[in-house]
Amino acid sequence: MTATARIHPSDPARPAPAAPASDTVAGYHAFTLGQFSFARDEYFVTVTWPAKGHRQSHTMSADAFLRALMRDVAWNFFYGLVNFDAVFGTRNLYGRVEIFAGRYNEAIHGAGLSYVEAFDSTDAMARFKEILADWVNAGFDPFAAPAETENSPFGEKNGNNLAAIDRFRIATKRMTGLPGDSPLRSDADGFPVNRAFADVDQGEPEIEVEPGFEGEVHAFNLFKYLSRSDVTWNPSVTSVCGRSLFCPTTEEYILPIIHGNDRVEWFLQLSDEITWEVADRETGRPRSRLTMKAGDVAAMPADIRHQGFSKKRAMLLVWENATADLPQRYERGELKPWPVDF
Ligand code: PHB
Ligand code: FE
Repeated sequence: MTATARIHPSDPARPAPAAPASDTVAGYHAFTLGQFSFARDEYFVTVTWPAKGHRQSHTMSADAFLRALMRDVAWNFFYGLVNFDAVFGTRNLYGRVEIFAGRYNEAIHGAGLSYVEAFDSTDAMARFKEILADWVNAGFDPFAAPAETENSPFGEKNGNNLAAIDRFRIATKRMTGLPGDSPLRSDADGFPVNRAFADVDQGEPEIEVEPGFEGEVHAFNLFKYLSRSDVTWNPSVTSVCGRSLFCPTTEEYILPIIHGNDRVEWFLQLSDEITWEVADRETGRPRSRLTMKAGDVAAMPADIRHQGFSKKRAMLLVWENATADLPQRYERGELKPWPVDF
């Protein structure tokens, strides 16, 4: 865990008002979204929500909150649950989004202190983007590995880093490197080889096409492409085959969210090593701990939450199934939460 839960019954004599957007602390604006309030100070982000006639609060380290918020924004709320930590997060209803506090935390939910509010995704996204723009200081890149960004998530407000937070998920239509599709990476385009991948072969495959098939055959060096990724924990589509999406990514330090799946995902470990903590999606009770080494393949079930840890930058291929009604089919019990029986 990268954040500390501080749940306390609030003092009825001092009900926390929903913070108007004009409030500032240490130069940072406070925000509201529905019944939620969000405020940050030099070190922390505090979220409050109504429960049992009072306001509950939860505090996270500002860097952990901003790294999670960055993914939620860039991934348009992703698949299923994006838990910022064990308390706060979002659930994608694809068009609508639920924002929750304590709902998937067994103790808080069991005590009747959780809160969920649904929004149109565009409204919630607009507010999340405002928070990100205001709270990310100059020099802090929430997508970068901690060793590769300045240690400036903390302190009083100091400028912004709009260029870093406007970097969105790469949308590939068919395959990276095809004419008119998402581009390959090179020194000239500002994507040097990462320090961790200096030994990765930079050659490209030779493509020999039968006459008549020109423009239909394509290949590229995925290891070279990934060796030049400037971000961490950001799966981006490199090939689309029907509803099958290959979403490779490079991983260093800790996945800033705890992802609650709404479908099965496959992981192919392409290099190095990542350890996954896997827990029950609903309660957070631990289910397994899995260390994947280069060449390992794992299926992450549809009813879990998981978080990855990578001590050296590693290449991972996340294989997603974008079939539209999958979450409903799992919820109705039509599909088992695991993909194969041995
Ligand atoms: C996942 O939740 O499956 C996931 C998210 C981000 C990554 C890797 C895996 O970088
Ligand atoms: Fe996942």
